[in-house]
Amino acid sequence: MKKTHTLAGLVLGTALLGAGLTSAFAADETLRSLAEKNGIYIGAILNSQWFGGGLPGNYEQIHKQQFNIVVAENEMKFDATEPQEGRFNYGNGDKMVKYAKQNGMRVRGHALAWHSQVPGWVEQKYGKNKKELLRVLKNHINNVVGHWKGQVDEWDVVNEAISNNEPQWRGFSVWYQGIGPEFIDSAFVWAHAADPKAELCYNDYNLEQGINPKAKAGFLLEQVKRWVKNGIPIHCVGSQTHVEDTTTDKHFIGSPDSLRSLAKELAKLNVKLKITELDIGFKSGINVSKSDLERQGQTFRQYLDIILEEPNADTYLIWGVSDKWSWLGGLNRQKGLIYDDNLKPKPAFDSIMVRLQTFEPPKDTAKKDTIVKDTTKKDTTVKDTTKKDTTVKDTTKKDTTDAIARIASRATVSAYVAGRTLFVTGLGSKTTAKVDLFDLQGRPVFSTQCENATVDLKNVPEGLYVVRISAGSTKTVQRLSIK
Ligand code: XIL
Repeated sequence: MKKTHTLAGLVLGTALLGAGLTSAFAADETLRSLAEKNGIYIGAILNSQWFGGGLPGNYEQIHKQQFNIVVAENEMKFDATEPQEGRFNYGNGDKMVKYAKQNGMRVRGHALAWHSQVPGWVEQKYGKNKKELLRVLKNHINNVVGHWKGQVDEWDVVNEAISNNEPQWRGFSVWYQGIGPEFIDSAFVWAHAADPKAELCYNDYNLEQGINPKAKAGFLLEQVKRWVKNGIPIHCVGSQTHVEDTTTDKHFIGSPDSLRSLAKELAKLNVKLKITELDIGFKSGINVSKSDLERQGQTFRQYLDIILEEPNADTYLIWGVSDKWSWLGGLNRQKGLIYDDNLKPKPAFDSIMVRLQTFEPPKDTAKKDTIVKDTTKKDTTVKDTTKKDTTVKDTTKKDTTDAIARIASRATVSAYVAGRTLFVTGLGSKTTAKVDLFDLQGRPVFSTQCENATVDLKNVPEGLYVVRISAGSTKTVQRLSIK
């Protein structure tokens, strides 16, 4: 149920564009409700401050209203769950699992085998001792995954095991140095044994930089092929997607299109692609303008397009809620999230919202509309190769990142502007059509029912727009310039 703008309400509508669009949406429409309609998960971490009760009440309110998947920022990591050998600490994780259950959210577990946030005792007691490290890692995975069996739906089993340049296995890792790369294969097998129904992911960053063998994702792809061939139970790749705004990072070589290529390659292997830690920051210290924030919104939307459009992609998870509580400062970045310091939605929030509202899956690809409701995941064993064939069969879908263009079907209806009047042609015997005008970020400017195939545009400011005309089952979308 969308609240629409009439021409008379246009002044209000354009004012809202400047102020953030939240109030232009129906009260019952949230990122979460729209994500569920589209069969995807949308989420944000619970920041560490939440666990200590150190956040304002509207943080949690927003979190549970807007998101349907959750992950702990730090509280399920090795150092949090097993700070001393064999002494497990599940308090914070339990708190999150309870919160997720109360609010009908899916739970991600993060992370089992990682080089970082490993407690000191592992290295001190067992560094370079292969046999002992195998025992320690296996025991950790057994206990942690076993504790949350049936409650944590998916795990980052291995995190960041690949180095950045000339990709190869990351050398500085207590697990790699003591065990060798087989710690990875083993971790997946142990996690699967501890909870055969959990979805198991390999998670890493810089995966949006191409899939050629010199890029990290290219190296990973070769490993995933091998794991699948060898019956290692890997079901998903998590792309952290901590990226920087294109204009401030001169070395930026990542792109949504590259990540989409990875999704398509993974589909051939029946492995999913998830975006697990998204943030799109600006360099610290620079002045971030309104148009910078709008461009950031477009990038957020382009990454969302992958999740909406690729059949084997189902999760869009942001590494934080508000810019006020974000790890990005430590990375020399700022303002990378979708709510500002005062927990007010930013243009990126609006872009995501509009995209979720207007997305219509192509008719020939039954999109994952069962994903959110499906809690009966299949039991795959190490040797099980019966996972569903989700290979992309539809090659008719274009890789365009123009969100609006996608919602058009072929139609003979079209529109043109003369002076300040919009004329709709090709309506045939139909006399009325619904006309929606969007700005180039996909944000609604107004909506009206046009009679007699004309719409008065005299209140519309000059500029470039996208118009959508719906007449019966026919829809058309095109760009318009109003002068
Ligand atoms: C970060 C947390 O946000 C920080 O609070 C913590 O100090 C360090 O870790 N990749 C990951 C996440 O997989 O676990 C990291 O989280 C961010 C990068």
